[in-house]
Amino acid sequence: MIRAVAFICFLVLFSASVSAQQLQGKDVLTRKCFQCHQASMWASVRGDRQAWLGVLYRMVGRGAFWTEEEINAMATFLAETRPVK
Ligand code: HEC
Repeated sequence: MIRAVAFICFLVLFSASVSAQQLQGKDVLTRKCFQCHQASMWASVRGDRQAWLGVLYRMVGRGAFWTEEEINAMATFLAETRPVK
């Protein structure tokens, strides 16, 4: 029994530290964008970092509440994964 509890504690701690490490890019993005619409909204959009910053600040204008750090991380990730063709 104690073993099982210890194992569960380990799992909880382990998953918490993994999510903390991935606070960059993709995770921030999926958590933030789904608050208002689905991924299909931007699935066809491509652009460089500057263009993605423009998109992100447009969302801020629509009511998204993000820190500059989060915006920069998302813009970097988007520019890497969805660059201009
Ligand atoms: C505060 C709410 C909100 C959040 C959060 C949000 N959006 Fe939007 N987004 C909107 C609204 C409102 C529209 C306009 C929907 C429409 O035209 O039907 C939109 C439209 C868009 C469009 C197409 C129109 C345009 O202006 O380019 C893109 C691309 C887009 N969002 C990307 C994103 C991405 C990427 C994220 C996450 C980083 C995100 N949005 C998060 C509210 C939000």
